[in-house]
Amino acid sequence: METFRRLIQEDLEAVETVIRDRLASDVPLIRQVAAYLVSGGGKRLRPALVLLAAGACGYKGVAHREIGAVVEFIHTATLLHDDVVDESSLRRGRATANERFGNAASVLVGDFIYSRAFQMMVGVRDLRVLEVLADATNVIAEGEVLQLLGVRNPDLTETEYLRVVRSKTAKLFEASARLGAVLAGDTEVRERALAAYGMHLGTAFQLIDDVLDYSGDRASIGKNLGDDLAEGKSTLPLIHALANARVDERAMLRQVIEEGAVDRFDQVLGALERCGALDYAREQAIGEAALARAALAPLADSKFRDSLIDFAAFAVGREV
Ligand code: IPE
Ligand code: IPE
Ligand code: MG
Ligand code: MG
Repeated sequence: METFRRLIQEDLEAVETVIRDRLASDVPLIRQVAAYLVSGGGKRLRPALVLLAAGACGYKGVAHREIGAVVEFIHTATLLHDDVVDESSLRRGRATANERFGNAASVLVGDFIYSRAFQMMVGVRDLRVLEVLADATNVIAEGEVLQLLGVRNPDLTETEYLRVVRSKTAKLFEASARLGAVLAGDTEVRERALAAYGMHLGTAFQLIDDVLDYSGDRASIGKNLGDDLAEGKSTLPLIHALANARVDERAMLRQVIEEGAVDRFDQVLGALERCGALDYAREQAIGEAALARAALAPLADSKFRDSLIDFAAFAVGREV
């Protein structure tokens, strides 16, 4: 992650300034919740993607800094809402906003940040930019609702799961990468190439997130393990195990998804490991990352393109 960050260091710092400036509000609770989130860190992957994609397309302006902050705001707003829906209590190594300030404050400040992002994107005065971001935001919301419909369903298929992943997570990666080309006024071929790259990269990223939810290190990922299981969310490791685990274990998994049983996390993890479900999910992520790299073929050689390749490797190799 450090290698591709170095290349865009200055722009990333500029994005950070935009983020801080644009969270201003006369309402103290908004400032308080917003500052809590921003100071909590986060990897800033989506702004990095905008900046790298813009660089790869030879962009020379400064609007990519504003758009970098916009995609981070959309991400932040979805996280605020997601943690309420998922009843998560830990993010970025500390109490979630819902844990600290309550569900109502999280939902409302999430709305504030969403709408602030829209004010900012209008300020860029480019209808294509607006179109890409409006579409992405809408698809993300659709993905979260689709996911809700699949909760506690042990018959959720891999195809249905992938549709959720592509919508709730990969769509914003797709938009971020695509916007680099849109801002630079690059060709449709390169715009599509970056969009495909972002879609595959984001899918790989979420697949690994779902693996780390079972097997990550709590301190490194800054989130609690087992959140997905606790809320009855069928992710790829579980979906694979439901079809491939020992017969008695399959019955146990079905029951845990349907009824929930946080205290059986270790038992579930054992079943996942025995049938290679975590390895399977990792392999799928590696495949997506390879597709992401392949999609970059139409881009000219540059250190930005090299960094996009590194980014894909990071998405699957990460432990954070
Ligand atoms: C978390 O995203 C939500 C997912 C899409 C898995 P990140 O892992 O990028 O979160 P931060 O911003 O670095 O905390
Ligand atoms: C990603 O899904 C959520 C969004 C895209 C908003 P998760 O629910 O797995 O994300 P984490 O694990 O809470 O970060
Ligand atoms: Mg969540
Ligand atoms: Mg997760």
